[in-house]
Parts: sequence; structure tokens; C-alpha cells
Amino acid sequence: MMLQNKNYIKNIIWHNHLVTCTDREQHHGHKSILLWFTGLSGSGKSTIASEMEYILYHLGISTYLLDGDNLRHGLCRDLDFNVNDRKENIRRVAEVAKLMVDAGLIVLAAFISPYRSDRKMVRNLLGHERFLEIFMDTPLEICEARDPKGLYKKARAGKLKNFTGLNAVYEVPDAPDIYLNGQQLVTKLIDQLLDFLFHHNIIKV
Ligand code: ADX
Repeated sequence: MMLQNKNYIKNIIWHNHLVTCTDREQHHGHKSILLWFTGLSGSGKSTIASEMEYILYHLGISTYLLDGDNLRHGLCRDLDFNVNDRKENIRRVAEVAKLMVDAGLIVLAAFISPYRSDRKMVRNLLGHERFLEIFMDTPLEICEARDPKGLYKKARAGKLKNFTGLNAVYEVPDAPDIYLNGQQLVTKLIDQLLDFLFHHNIIKV
């Protein structure tokens, strides 16, 4: 997808609106940012993102959770798991997340997002101030033992191609903003995330 190279884009002019992102942040009473969870299937991304959203929501924070499995039922239902389709998956999600962040929300996104270049694209799109890469580090053996959707079993049986960790690559983040040890208790990981957000003045007590 090389949208930037299309000629018609030149005739579309950006319009600055009267209500700004800063206005919306003031209205919500907290900063808006994208919390991007990356990791293997079964690593616990969706679980942690969902628990985290629950806590933030009950602290009165305006949130939204974008989840790979769910978005692939709608917005991204035409996409497969080859390199190009995953890239397009992440591009679409990043654009949606950018709008939601502009709307003043704390957005949580749980996507395998196995390629460094795609994660870098999201960071560049959102800007360093509005993006946190969170690496959910759970060893493949543990993800495979959990196998909540039976997909590892299917992939091992040769019934699923391009399965991340088995026959498709996962590029480990070099320098994630937040490192989560997937073998720790959910409550401990949630505390770690909340601490980070408080100490970086993203949310207030
Ligand atoms: S991503 O690689 O493009 O970021 P995404 O997070 O949207 O992936 O979707 C991953 C989910 O799709 C997994 O949690 C799993 O349930 C399901 N899935 C189905 N096929 C595959 C596959 N080949 N590789 C990885 N996940 C798959």
C-alpha cells in the first residue's frame, strides 16, 4: 500500500479543527496515549490489556481496547497472516488508534505485531510522546502449553501456515518502553503498568 505516492492525495488538504487534542485531554482529565502490547499468541497480551483497561476505566479514565482477534472479525477480516497482510493489519489499527488518541483516550492495543518495522511505523505515526511499546515476554513453550485457542496444536499438525513462533518469525523488541515478564502474576504486571503511568504523569491518583 503506497498511498502517499497516489496523485490524488496532493489535492487533499489537511483541515485543522477548532477543538484540539489538548482540549480533549483537559476534558477527560488525563493524557491520551497508545499502549501497544506486542508478544506471541497466548503470551497474555489480551488478558493484561483487558485487566488494565478495567482498572483504568474504574479510575474514571476514558479508554478503548483494540484487540487483534476482534479486529480481524471486522475491519481487518480480509487480511491473512503473510508479511504484507500483517503489515496492512498493523497500519489500519495504527490509524484507528491515532484517531482515538486524538479523541483524548488512553488506547490499549493487543497485537502480535511480530515485525520491528511495523512497530516502528506505529511509533512514527503516533509520535514518541503518544506511544509506548509494551513487550509481553512469555516463552514460546509456555504459550504453546497454554494454547488457549488450540492454534499451536493445529500449526504443529501442519493445519495452519505462517503461525508466529513456529513457522513465522517474531522479532523480539530491542528496547521496549515497558518490559513485562509474562511468567509473573497478572496483578504484579498490572501494578507495574500503573506505576509507570503514574510516574510518567500520564494518569493521576
Ligand atoms: S498480527 O501478527 O497481524 O499482529 P493479530 O494480533 O492481528 O496478528 O492476530 C493474532 C491472532 O490471530 C492470534 O492471537 C491468533 O488467535 C490468531 N491467529 C490465527 N492464525 C494465526 C497465525 N497464522 N499466526 C498468528 N496468529 C494467528
